[in-house]
Amino acid sequence: MLNSAAFTCQNNRISVPHISSTYTFHPSSSLSSSLPLSQYHQNPSLVSVYKHTHLTISPRNKGLKVRCSQNEPLKVMISGAPASGKGTQCELIVQKYGLVHISTGDLLRSEVAAGSEIGNQAKEYMNSGRLVPDEVVTAMVIGRLSQEDAKEKGWLLDGFPRSFAQAQSLEKMKIRPDVFIVLDVPDEILIDRCVGRRLDPETGKIYHIKNFPPETEEVKARLITRPDDTEEKVKSRLQIYKQNVEAIVSTYSDLLKKIDGNRPKDVIFGEISSLLLEVQKEKETRKSEDASKLASQFNKSPATKENWRGIPTNLNNIPHSREIREYFYDDVLQATQRAINDGKIRVKVEINIPELNPEQDVYRIGTLMELVRVLALSFADDGKRVKVSVQGSMGEGALAGMPLQLAGTRQILEYMDWGSDGAMGNFINIGAIGAKEVDEVDDIFILVAPQNAMGNCIIDDLRAMTDAAGSRPVIVINPRLKDLPASSGIMQTMGREKRLEYAASFEMCYQFRLLYYSGTQYPIMGALRMAYPYRYELFKRINEPSGKEKYVILSTFPSRPTGDEINDAFEGRTRDQVKKASGFWGFLNTILS
Ligand code: AP5
Repeated sequence: MLNSAAFTCQNNRISVPHISSTYTFHPSSSLSSSLPLSQYHQNPSLVSVYKHTHLTISPRNKGLKVRCSQNEPLKVMISGAPASGKGTQCELIVQKYGLVHISTGDLLRSEVAAGSEIGNQAKEYMNSGRLVPDEVVTAMVIGRLSQEDAKEKGWLLDGFPRSFAQAQSLEKMKIRPDVFIVLDVPDEILIDRCVGRRLDPETGKIYHIKNFPPETEEVKARLITRPDDTEEKVKSRLQIYKQNVEAIVSTYSDLLKKIDGNRPKDVIFGEISSLLLEVQKEKETRKSEDASKLASQFNKSPATKENWRGIPTNLNNIPHSREIREYFYDDVLQATQRAINDGKIRVKVEINIPELNPEQDVYRIGTLMELVRVLALSFADDGKRVKVSVQGSMGEGALAGMPLQLAGTRQILEYMDWGSDGAMGNFINIGAIGAKEVDEVDDIFILVAPQNAMGNCIIDDLRAMTDAAGSRPVIVINPRLKDLPASSGIMQTMGREKRLEYAASFEMCYQFRLLYYSGTQYPIMGALRMAYPYRYELFKRINEPSGKEKYVILSTFPSRPTGDEINDAFEGRTRDQVKKASGFWGFLNTILS
């Protein structure tokens, strides 16, 4: 028996040292193999069958890591005519490789046995040997593929896809196998195999009255025959298979491995097993090549300062160029990914460059949405189902309304271009803020600028939502959770302390603020940046004799510096000198309060 350690590179991770604050590193958003998800909302009857579990992200060491092979499980599709031996080979593959076996025939049969809605729909089709409607089977398979065990152990898809539409649904969601195995068996043999097939309802084991008779009388007594295993129905199933096979095979022609299935089952398995080992090996090699490429790219860059892009300049000129926007999207993305990968579940991003600060001008919400899109697509790419939430109207009656900045935000999100690969609606869904917005299938939540409005507090809805989300990550982008007075000027004081305590419970994973003279937006004096898990970095903006501007680092801090600490750094004072902020640098106290 093969030892799984033989083909995995255990604990083989390349950890990369601390990233210089302004060095930009562009890892693929999906370093891990992605297993995309769907909008498949679980039928309660399926929950017991599929044992859905939530995403759990295990805490990892700090620092950016390039994952090697440890989490690179195999993804296998097995196809072939009815009775070509798919189920028989799957039993053996699962025993040896521990993949999660997903057989649409088995899933449908258990639905029929459970008398569920899906089972009742499927029964008639199955009994007559026809294909069950694509949408029913596709939703079932995608729901099953999105569960944790399939992501962790890898999967073995048996009997799916069985039509061009099914294959295309998977392609759209970028669900591709590593190998597509077709078992090839002559027609006349298939009919004999089906008619002689018997199933053990207790163990699920497949027998054949002649080829593989049961081991004991006890097993023999409980064997059952499938209702679709009559000669007539097998012929009809075979015909349907032949009508569809070409379209499916052409989808996977680059991954196709045809195997002669008309041989003893152990011989067939021997060939499949060598094939899987080879595929696994190729996968590992590819992965470690990618890992070393990334590592060498990383190792080179911090040392050679010419690669160091620093903080972008001309930040007061708006609209910002695409390059500047992308710099910040990427910076935020990396910090957020590191925090989530480290097991953080309540994190916030605060970024107030002019173009991303809707407090200055509401149209800038569009840029903020662009940032949200980058984050959402990246998490979706890593196989997570993302809920993007924008708070709805607050208050009641004549007092109902929503913060000006957020008006129309949801529509903007809906009309945005989310790509043509079906991410929106499948991996990414848009919702509001509140407990009932948390669906069982959601893996991660991105909350867009949740904020208190005059007289209305969002925190209760927010807290209910995070309670419902449990251990699933919630990322808040540019929150404004300070209490605001009602229009009458009255501040709600009941429970205020608890609300503020809750607001503070989100851990900063990214912060970027420009520093100005008090009460002005010009000139920019410097910037404060923090990208998880690194220290807060204070930069001073200087004008070079050539007229160009640049940012130089003044100091770093383990936690967010106070106005005094920033003043000291700007004035070149050492930290142990106790003093009060004064003069024109006093403004920084107000900026950071
Ligand atoms: P499903 O259960 O998937 O049926 P199938 O594809 O027709 O395949 P079988 O289960 O009949 O055969 P198998 O290839 O697994 O062979 P096995 O190992 O059992 O689907 C059933 C129905 O569900 C469909 O008709 C459809 O209605 C519906 N459905 C399923 N998926 C769907 C989808 N994606 N879309 C729409 N509808 C869907 O072996 C057969 C016999 O041969 C056994 O007795 C075995 O012991 C014997 N045998 C196996 N290997 C050997 C060997 N090497 N030598 C001699 N005998 C052997």
